[in-house]
Amino acid sequence: MDYKSEIAAKLAEITGLTKEEIEGKIEIPPQLDMGDYAFPCFILAKALRKAPPVIAADLKADQRLNIDSVRAENVGPYLNFFVEKGSFAKKTIGDILSKGQDYAATNEGAGKKIVVEYSSPNIAKPFHVGHAFTTIIGNSLAKIYSMLGYDVVRMNHLGDYGTQFGKLITAYRLWGDEEKLNEAPIDELLRIYVKFHEEEKKDPGLTDSARENFRKLEEGNPEEVALWEKFRDMSLVVFDKLYKRMGMEFDNYNGESYYAKMADEVVDMLKEKNLLVESEGAQVVPLDEYNIPPCIILKSDGTTIYATRDIAAILYRYRNYHFDKNIYVVGSPQALHFKQVFSVMKKAGFDFADDCVHVGFGLVKFKNMKFSTRDGNVVLLEDLLDECVKKTYEVITENAKTRGASMSDEEMRDIAEKVGIGAVIYTYVKSGRERDIVFSWEEMLDFEGDSAPYLMYTYARTRSILRKASENGLMPDPSLADLLTGEEEYALLRALADFPDAVHKAAASYEPFMISRQIALVARNFNRFYNNSSILNADNEDLKKARLALCEAVCTVIKSGLNLLGIEEVERM
Ligand code: ARG
Repeated sequence: MDYKSEIAAKLAEITGLTKEEIEGKIEIPPQLDMGDYAFPCFILAKALRKAPPVIAADLKADQRLNIDSVRAENVGPYLNFFVEKGSFAKKTIGDILSKGQDYAATNEGAGKKIVVEYSSPNIAKPFHVGHAFTTIIGNSLAKIYSMLGYDVVRMNHLGDYGTQFGKLITAYRLWGDEEKLNEAPIDELLRIYVKFHEEEKKDPGLTDSARENFRKLEEGNPEEVALWEKFRDMSLVVFDKLYKRMGMEFDNYNGESYYAKMADEVVDMLKEKNLLVESEGAQVVPLDEYNIPPCIILKSDGTTIYATRDIAAILYRYRNYHFDKNIYVVGSPQALHFKQVFSVMKKAGFDFADDCVHVGFGLVKFKNMKFSTRDGNVVLLEDLLDECVKKTYEVITENAKTRGASMSDEEMRDIAEKVGIGAVIYTYVKSGRERDIVFSWEEMLDFEGDSAPYLMYTYARTRSILRKASENGLMPDPSLADLLTGEEEYALLRALADFPDAVHKAAASYEPFMISRQIALVARNFNRFYNNSSILNADNEDLKKARLALCEAVCTVIKSGLNLLGIEEVERM
């Protein structure tokens, strides 16, 4: 049993609350000198009819609150618990080394299913840095929920439906270049799409042709469907290359076109429940009771809209997955759209509407960075990754030269790819997701700042300490970890011990940055310790082995945190 649950068990015995209730209330104090755990006594005030500070004092005096290696102190309304440093160190390191990459794993999600929708780019359009935001946050959330034992379904709700495909078909037949399409499909599709809009101004016949082609596509006419499929498949090849490069996969790529086919079912269902009202020729669901504008289901020409397809998609998800939670990682500007969609479901009597969550995020900006931009001034994710990897390669080769390190060019390129991509991913996950991101090379590639290179370097260097020790026959020994009672060791151990809690909080608030913040704290505390204390030259062999065990624990937690963010560690740098 860990200290927290031991404390909770004792408090439960004394107060009559359940152990789970208490465990949920136990906090980790914001400052190290306030102890390792804190129990806020406010929650007992009503039941006991006493002031919280009095309750805290009474609890402290209670003989039954006797836990090995744990001392309680009452401070105002709080009861703070101090675990004896040596046993805290031994317990924490023992835990981490025995659980390894499962250190933060729990079974809170056992038997539960979470659908996470993320990425969802539009086919035939460039994959820009805004789409990377949903892709990276969503991928991280999916990994976090898997760590907590949930069965996760990763959905990519492709934007593959709309009248623009009628235009693309017309444009392709007139100006499409097969060779270019095979070379760089999205560039070519974009070129003919832009051309279509230019030519359309001069020749209204094009508009009619596009409309006709879209109608045929809708009706399932084989030739138009085949072309659309070709555009879709080619786009997916491009997207998949990016996903693969970033180490991610999806379970389901059903796009909007798939759900468009379910539109009749949606309309029938809403009609049957008497929710559809006519408004200016359109069919809408009024949502006055939710204080939001009505949700349009069918436009006046009888066609469906984006929201109709999202309603179909929820029905599909529930039917196929019976989700306990259905998460949409989509930009904050679509907040109202999701509110409307969820409200329609709620109004239609589907209780699972309450389990649907929109997880929004901010905008992406650049500071002193120039990229070739395409259609509508967007920066492509691929260009950002390439440039970052290139710059990382320059830094790494330069560093290797100054250190006189012997690494093959191939190895350095491999490291630069991982660190460069890590630097981009980290920039997306290092702050609260609702804040706008400002990319700057200085920050992303600051090997001493709050960056992926800093964390990855800390990891790689610590691994090299362990390798060197092992070459000298020195192995980490967690059973000696009670020797680690120094101030800096304690600060580091606390950062390590709080990691599982950070993962839990990241899941509960849909905020991967709670994890990045925690491993950044681990790395900073480790580096402070490392700068002031010797590991391989410590006073005696036992202390060396104990500190090596601490190094091992640091590596385990940093790797686990990086991986949960979607970043792959490197062993050498
Ligand atoms: N394809 C849309 C876009 O690029 C995002 C789709 C979001 N997901 C959804 N279920 N509506 O803006």
